[in-house]
Amino acid sequence: MIHARGLTRRFKVGKGVVDAVRGLDIDVAEGQLVAFLGPNGAGKSTSLRMLTSLLPPTSGTATVAGRDVVSDPAGVRARIGYVGQKSSAGENFRVRDELVTQARCYGLRRAEARRRADEVLALLDLEALATRKPGTLSGGQRRRLDIALGLIHRPGLLFLDEPSTGLDPQSRANIWEHILRLRAEHGTTLFLTTHYLEEADTMAERVVIIDHGRIIADGTAEQLKGELAGDRVTVTVHDEPEAARAAEVAARIAGSDAVTVERRTVRLRVPHAGRTLPEYLRSLDASGVKVATAETARPTLDDVFLALTGRSLRESDESHGTAPHGA
Ligand SMILES: Nc1ncnc2c1ncn2[C@@H]1O[C@H](COP(=O)(O)OP(=O)(O)OP(=O)(O)O)[C@@H](O)[C@H]1O
Ligand SMILES: [Mg+2]
Repeated sequence: MIHARGLTRRFKVGKGVVDAVRGLDIDVAEGQLVAFLGPNGAGKSTSLRMLTSLLPPTSGTATVAGRDVVSDPAGVRARIGYVGQKSSAGENFRVRDELVTQARCYGLRRAEARRRADEVLALLDLEALATRKPGTLSGGQRRRLDIALGLIHRPGLLFLDEPSTGLDPQSRANIWEHILRLRAEHGTTLFLTTHYLEEADTMAERVVIIDHGRIIADGTAEQLKGELAGDRVTVTVHDEPEAARAAEVAARIAGSDAVTVERRTVRLRVPHAGRTLPEYLRSLDASGVKVATAETARPTLDDVFLALTGRSLRESDESHGTAPHGA
């Protein structure tokens, strides 16, 4: 469905340049659900805009839904849907009229356009809101309308740029229900960006991480976590000098990594916590360190990002969540 090679985009900003995307290579098979993750400014939206033919690449090639984004942008647009980071619905027309107009733009006859508008209203549970104006909708309702607009011409491939950003957890879950249903009932290929790592982890079958315009990880969430992050071990002891000793012991464990101490808590990463924790506790006991609590946790996608870049994606996620842009 998507085949991109060496896709790059450079923006001129004043006298300088910004290399927003630096050589994107990606293949997405029909029916896949791909989550595209990365911090603010990583190049997610720019990549999506190139793949949807909305922005010409500086160099590189991409075929999307069988059409070349540069030589046949109209062909690409006829076959894909795109839900941008900002809401695309106007303010002045009622929800159903907005959908009918959009359908007419794709060349459907009036009666057909009305029928299709009613179909997508049902698909996104928007029937009760058909005569409202978009300006009066809640954030989640409006996002559902954006998705309905993106689906009006029955595309086999849908791009969604942060479909759930800024919504409350319940609306986010609702958006996801609709996204998963699209795939289950219509076999739609979905390529979406999100800042919510848990969403990508549990919903997507494939996770692609981009940072500074380059793909730095690509696989299932389980693969990435297993290969790149390792399990987390957290041990608390009774005082700070003991914590320092516990950290020294931790650093000597085979395969241990990222040992940190915060007051009475020592954290580290190991390949297999189930095997390592008993060994660590025995060594602590032998060194005379008394352990108060010990916990292990499976890695998260944030641990993957941390392992790859030394930075946390969650920090940008949180700042993002409090200041959503767009919808
Ligand atoms: N039209 C433009 N002109 C100049 N620079 C741009 C333009 N669009 C994007 N950029 C820059 O390109 C980089 C990538 O931006 P992009 O919007 O693709 O990031 P993103 O991953 O979608 O981030 P976010 O999570 O904040 O949406 C950023 O440094 C951004 O400032
Ligand atoms: Mg973006």
